[in-house]
Amino acid sequence: MKPEAGNQKVQTYQRGLEGLEVTDTRISLIDGVKSRLIYRGYPVDELAENCSFEEVTYLILHGNLPNQQEYSQWKDELREWRIPPKEAFDSLSIIPSNAHPLAQYRTMLTIAACHIPEAGRSDMQAQWRRPARILSWSAALAAGAIRHLNSQAPLPPKDDLDFSANFLWQALEREVSPEEKSAFEASLIVQAEHGLHAAAFAALIVISTGADLGSAVLAGMGALSGVRHGGANQLAYEDISKFECAEEARVWARKQLDEGYRFPGYGHRVYKCPDPRVAVLESHAKNLLASKGMEDRWEIYSAVRAEIEGALSPKGIYANVDSITGLIYAPLGLPVSSFPIPFCLAIETGWMAHCLEYLPHGAMIEPGAVYLTSS
Ligand code: COA
Repeated sequence: MKPEAGNQKVQTYQRGLEGLEVTDTRISLIDGVKSRLIYRGYPVDELAENCSFEEVTYLILHGNLPNQQEYSQWKDELREWRIPPKEAFDSLSIIPSNAHPLAQYRTMLTIAACHIPEAGRSDMQAQWRRPARILSWSAALAAGAIRHLNSQAPLPPKDDLDFSANFLWQALEREVSPEEKSAFEASLIVQAEHGLHAAAFAALIVISTGADLGSAVLAGMGALSGVRHGGANQLAYEDISKFECAEEARVWARKQLDEGYRFPGYGHRVYKCPDPRVAVLESHAKNLLASKGMEDRWEIYSAVRAEIEGALSPKGIYANVDSITGLIYAPLGLPVSSFPIPFCLAIETGWMAHCLEYLPHGAMIEPGAVYLTSS
């Protein structure tokens, strides 16, 4: 048998789909030249300064900041779904406690998704009832995964706490200070939506096939787990935690630059300018570290960042949000391997918003590939 000839290698696509637009959206604008991130018309720094996570999730999903009645209904809806199906937590007994917490959380959410009420309904009214369930169940499961790292059982929610304070209570078994809450909440807000990044696109592909919103979120979680995506904040913090002082860290960064190391937490597909989310979190991280006697972490981070940006900013490489979130999560007492979890929890909002926006008009996403012969 003789194999049939394929095409010659002529590239008709962009590597990594860079610059390719697959749909239009009213959800967010990522301006990679002017260093801006805008959700539904509002700059993310203003939202982080003035709004709660619940208000921002409502905005991202529905397109407007909630009025008082909408806000109170949304918070009630989120509170109503704080207890996930027991079977999801039961699965922890067969998940190794040293599995990555994101994998633990994803596995539990898979089980919880089988218990979503109205599973057979795909009409838009039923679809719109799902985000609150998925977000609140996710928070409880994510906190449960963090506790499982230390073989601790999940904790019940506290109804008097809002979304972010309750998540931290369920993860850390302590009520956080206003300063801790506001730093953590700012980190959730700036990470709640980021256009059609790889994980959001994975979710969009899944929803476009007619699958349910839970499956779309699970696809996003798989994509996010990669070290080039949502895993980078853990690695970025691990890099700087090796050092005792800023000078030692600076020398390390210099050497890594010479060796062509790809620094986690630096560079971005869209931002070829400073990542605006970093500026929002800087003072939160610096103050929180100082309040816990961890100022040296800030100095080490700043020294490494100055070295990297000094060398690579002419190529458009700056610190991205993953370089800095660990500097909020570490002083809170979250385990380093769990750092991708708050990012995942927050950005599920954006994935669901993109899915719900796409659903009424979207075609099934099925691109092609140019067939080449093996030789
Ligand atoms: N450290 C050092 N060099 C980097 C770099 C980093 N973090 N990110 C990109 N570069 C360099 C590449 O080596 C390449 O250099 P070259 O042109 O001399 O070969 C150039 O910048 C372009 O890199 P490329 O991978 O093509 O850019 P991209 O737009 O596809 O990559 C990322 C975007 C995010 C995948 C990339 O910057 C990265 O891997 N960053 C680290 C992981 C991370 O922080 N991810 C979270 C993003 S929010």
